[in-house]
Amino acid sequence: MNKVDVVLGSFFGDEGKGKIIDYLSQKADISIRCTGGNNAGHSIELNGKKFAFHLIPSGVLNKGNLAIIGNGVVVDPKVLIEEIKNLKENGYSVDNLRISDKAHVIFPYHIEMDRLQEELRGAQKIGTTCRGIGPVYCDKYERSGIRMGDLVNKRFETQLRQNIEKKNKIFESYGHKTVDADEIMKEYNNYADILKPYVIDTVSLLHQALEQDKKILCEGAQATLLDIDFGNYPFVTSSNPTIGGICTGTGIGARYIGEVYGVLKAYSSKVGEGPYITEQDNEIGDKIRELGHEYGTTTKRPRRCGWLDLVALKYAVMLNGITGLAINHVDTIGKLDEIKLCVGYKIDGEITMQYSTDLERIAKCEPIYETFKGNFGDISNIKRREDLPQNAKKYLDRIEEIVKVPIKFIGTGAGRNSMIVC
Ligand code: IMO
Ligand code: MG
Repeated sequence: MNKVDVVLGSFFGDEGKGKIIDYLSQKADISIRCTGGNNAGHSIELNGKKFAFHLIPSGVLNKGNLAIIGNGVVVDPKVLIEEIKNLKENGYSVDNLRISDKAHVIFPYHIEMDRLQEELRGAQKIGTTCRGIGPVYCDKYERSGIRMGDLVNKRFETQLRQNIEKKNKIFESYGHKTVDADEIMKEYNNYADILKPYVIDTVSLLHQALEQDKKILCEGAQATLLDIDFGNYPFVTSSNPTIGGICTGTGIGARYIGEVYGVLKAYSSKVGEGPYITEQDNEIGDKIRELGHEYGTTTKRPRRCGWLDLVALKYAVMLNGITGLAINHVDTIGKLDEIKLCVGYKIDGEITMQYSTDLERIAKCEPIYETFKGNFGDISNIKRREDLPQNAKKYLDRIEEIVKVPIKFIGTGAGRNSMIVC
């Protein structure tokens, strides 16, 4: 491992980042979440038990790992406390959890605002997770946000009351339910007491660790095509899940970063609205959804499913400087008789490998597919890439050939050990 390695989502999220993170964090001293909030859902299957993490880095499952919620994350304290409780109940210690004093806090009015805005968008809705993510980042950038340091040191009453007054005026004008400042004060004072022991200046902590040659694993959440700048705007989240967000969300400079792992599935999926060029809104998509159990970890929504899109993958590689691919659900796609791989788009009769987030251009893209044979059989116990069945090898080789980045991890099943490390 390098001083700092990074795991990122290459498409629309839910690529199985948790599985790779779980493996890599065994070699790390520190795991850190950098952006987003509890819109993320990272699931890990360990000793037959399934854990779903929304805020705490999944590296927390490795004893001795310091698990940090970085400054770029937005924290819903209620959800975080639930997560802490759940870990403790399952026999895991959270003594190693640290939360950045600079991380912004989600309040109930952010969640209400998220709901109201989705309602107002009507047919143009984004399909957000309604966890208050957009509104809390708005407050952060508008400079009225409340940070974890303010919360646990109880320096937030004046700002909170001001914020609530403003939000309630908006809620009232739309006939939406308002929120009660006293109730929220009481609730959040309570959370402050519970969370105070975990909140520190994580930037100093990380740099001390770097000086001591500790290894840091950055746990990306969301994904490239959900990036506020580089994704399919406006069908995106409100942060930068791409490589830049890793630096700003932690305070770690780019020069420390070694490997950047781009995680993907052997097919693709998406939750929420917005364009999705290789979507199979038909029986193939339904079949992939059932085989891959493609239902949201966070919202339980059925995910839209389709073929793997190498044009979009190349875009993710370019934007993030991805050095290695981690490809999950190879076992799942191998259950189909026939697999398609998108190797280009046709736009107005011209073939291109260039991804653009211009929605009008996207609407014109016709995917060009190559077809592969499936029926990989049970590959869950295979430990070497060369031992994979021919059909699987051909599919993986072709991906590597087109994207020109080595595959470093191959997911062969749900369990922790069902993975080939190349
Ligand atoms: P992980 O880390 C999949 C999507 C939402 C919606 C859009 C905006 O598990 O891969 P938001 O609530 O963020 O304002 O919603 O982004 N979205 C995700 N989709 N996985 C995620 O995270 C997501 N986080 C946000 O579905 O389309
Ligand atoms: Mg998810």
